[in-house]
Parts: sequence; structure tokens; C-alpha cells
Amino acid sequence: MELKEVIKRRRSTRRYTGKPVEIEKLREAMELALYAPSSKNTRSTRLMAVTNLEKVHALAALRDYGSSLLAEASAAIVVMGDSEASPMWEINAALMTNTLQLALVDQGLASCWVHVGEYRTIGDDPTSQRSEDFVKELLPEIPAAYRILCVVAVGYADYTPKPLPEYEGPERLLYVK
Ligand SMILES: Cc1cc2nc3c(=O)[nH]c(=O)nc-3n(C[C@H](O)[C@H](O)[C@H](O)COP(=O)(O)O)c2cc1C
Repeated sequence: MELKEVIKRRRSTRRYTGKPVEIEKLREAMELALYAPSSKNTRSTRLMAVTNLEKVHALAALRDYGSSLLAEASAAIVVMGDSEASPMWEINAALMTNTLQLALVDQGLASCWVHVGEYRTIGDDPTSQRSEDFVKELLPEIPAAYRILCVVAVGYADYTPKPLPEYEGPERLLYVK
């Protein structure tokens, strides 16, 4: 697929057909995502593919808003950062997430970024559990020192999302001579 097409086709997709996602497709997309840049080339980002459906669907409860779509996904990719490797681990992980989502499009897959944030409740009620702790309890394979930025829901889209409108106003692009 041409780069322009990949960029335009990427949309946050929240409904999936339930068709299983081939591990080879996930592997190809994840390996490509590793080419994302990182501050001082620290390469602090780590990816973990989850294909056990029980676990993928259980991740839907990671927060009480914005994460329920994981209950329909066929796979999930946890995007983590080694915070000791770089103070910019979050920015590095965000860049890799975007590269990963584009690479998934190239594999014919749809995805959606599910943010992990601070606490599991809307408004970040500090008396609730930390979302990161919830994910780590569900996936004990995650090394304790890794921080988690987001979980990318993955699946085959059950509809064709429209591309974003091409023109959204002049204030987003500035040109100076
Ligand atoms: C930092 C970030 C956090 C996001 N968190 C969530 C989320 O928790 N749940 C969700 O359904 N979508 C989430 N999204 C997806 C956005 O809602 C989506 O990118 C935006 O509405 C634009 O739509 P598009 O991705 O289809 O272009 C997130 C996107 C970003 C970049």
C-alpha cells in the first residue's frame, strides 16, 4: 500500500468482526514499528502482543471509560517504556504507537489506541486502582520496571471508516517566508 493511502486509511476503529488476527501479521507490524525514532536513540519502547482472547477482552475493564472496545478486539498490543532507559519514554512510546498503527493498516488490520492513564476511574479518582497495576496483574509477564502508555486494540474492522475530512481550517498549517 502506498504511504499516502496508509496514512489516510488509519482511523480509530472500535468495532471488529471477531475474525482471529494472524500472529504473523502482528509480528510484521511490530517489527516495522521498531523503526520509530526515539530520543537519543534510547529505544526505550517495548511491545507485547496479546492473542489470548480471554485476556484481550479482560483488558476492556482497564478503565471505566474509553476501553470497553477491547471486549470486541481479536488481539491487543501493550505499548510499554523502560523509564530508566529514557526520561522521554512516553514520547518515544507514543511515536512508536503511531508507527505501529500505520503498519497495522498495511497488514489490512484496524486498531484503536486505548489510553492507560493514571487511575481506572473517570476523573482519575486516586482512591481507585491504578490502570497500570490492573494491566500488570492481568499480564504478569510485564517486567515490573516497565511503564505502560497504552494498549492498542487490534482486529478486522466490521465497517469501512471514512477518511478524515481533508481540510479542517487554515489555522493548523502555517507557512512563513
Ligand atoms: C493519546 C491518545 C489517546 C487516546 N485514547 C483513546 C482511548 O482511551 N479510547 C479510545 O476509544 N480512543 C482513544 N484514542 C483515539 C482518539 O479518540 C482518535 O484518534 C481521535 O478521535 C481521532 O480519530 P481517528 O484516530 O479515527 O483519526 C486516543 C488517541 C490518542 C492519540
